[in-house]
Amino acid sequence: MQMKLKLTVAAAIAAVAGMALADEMVVTIGHVAPMSGSQAHYGKDNENGVRMAIDDLNAEKVMIGGKLAKFQIEAEDDAADPKQGTAVAQKLCDAKVAGVVGHLNSGTTIPASKIYHECGIPMITGAATNPDLTKPGYKNVFRIIANDNALGAGLAFYAADALKLKKIAVVDDRTAYGQGVAEVFEKTAKEKGMDVVDHQYTTDKATDFMAILTAIKSKKPDGIFYGGMDAQAGAMLRQMDQLGMSNVKFFGGDGICTNEIIKIASGAKSLDGVVCAEGGSSIAKMPGGKEWKARYDAKYPGQFQIYSPYTYDATFVLVDAMKRAKSADPKVYTSFIPATDFKGVTAEIKFEPTGELKNPTMTLSTYKDGKKVALN
Ligand code: ALA
Repeated sequence: MQMKLKLTVAAAIAAVAGMALADEMVVTIGHVAPMSGSQAHYGKDNENGVRMAIDDLNAEKVMIGGKLAKFQIEAEDDAADPKQGTAVAQKLCDAKVAGVVGHLNSGTTIPASKIYHECGIPMITGAATNPDLTKPGYKNVFRIIANDNALGAGLAFYAADALKLKKIAVVDDRTAYGQGVAEVFEKTAKEKGMDVVDHQYTTDKATDFMAILTAIKSKKPDGIFYGGMDAQAGAMLRQMDQLGMSNVKFFGGDGICTNEIIKIASGAKSLDGVVCAEGGSSIAKMPGGKEWKARYDAKYPGQFQIYSPYTYDATFVLVDAMKRAKSADPKVYTSFIPATDFKGVTAEIKFEPTGELKNPTMTLSTYKDGKKVALN
């Protein structure tokens, strides 16, 4: 009798648990960025954007196909390394995450996109800007910022038309991003009649630029374009000061357009000559920017860099497609992403058939008194 009663209670508990499970579902969003090494500050900012979105979505009590969705993150570190990028992409495929926000670097995002394509998981990057990402035409690959065709060209136009510069030197870090954005800048600079007097190469690990800056100095350029990230750009600015080059303008894409560059440049006068471009509106001009940034700063003090509003929106865009598809199964909801019309924090998000953002904006910024200031 006692035995029978115990069994009945166990069966009842199992039935209740089963019912709860039937009405709820766990949806795992993968996130990948460099979380270690000299780019960890960008990665942390990007991951914060996804975590904040997940907290907000869980508070909203999102229903997908009649079930309460509980969102969680599976966060990975690709260390900005292409090989590690494909390894963690495979790991997220094996874990059967519902979708991926990332990666951060074009050098990791482009090879990872092929892995996600093969395993049928959608990915949205809020940071990788090399135009080649969307060239293969994979139906699972999306970008919610402008690409380097806009950034590289916009900077060359500004150098030629607004600043009337004549002689430019170019440096790139030989990554997919650095090389790509430098090529677009150089091509446009030449079309605008500027003289590209030198092109030097470095890596995304380098710290000493004295030799290449000395070579560049002898060509007397009015400006240097750097294709790469802020660890190298910040060190270059310090070394430009040491070589008496602080009157030379310094251009770069979104990779150098961070708050961290202020710290790395550590008081270099050359920081005042920086003009950088990012593939969206300034926080002040984003539809939900100011209110969102205040909430972000309260949650993650001192960690804002650049891309977190985009990784936040990217998470919402995935979930918006799941809601419309009434499913978090990538096989079902991926085909709903192209029809996205989502009012995000960064913009009203719609996609081109290629997976690129429709009507992206671009912001140029400079640094004044140790603060990043938008020029438009
Ligand atoms: N926009 C940079 C890249 O594409 C972060 O690598």
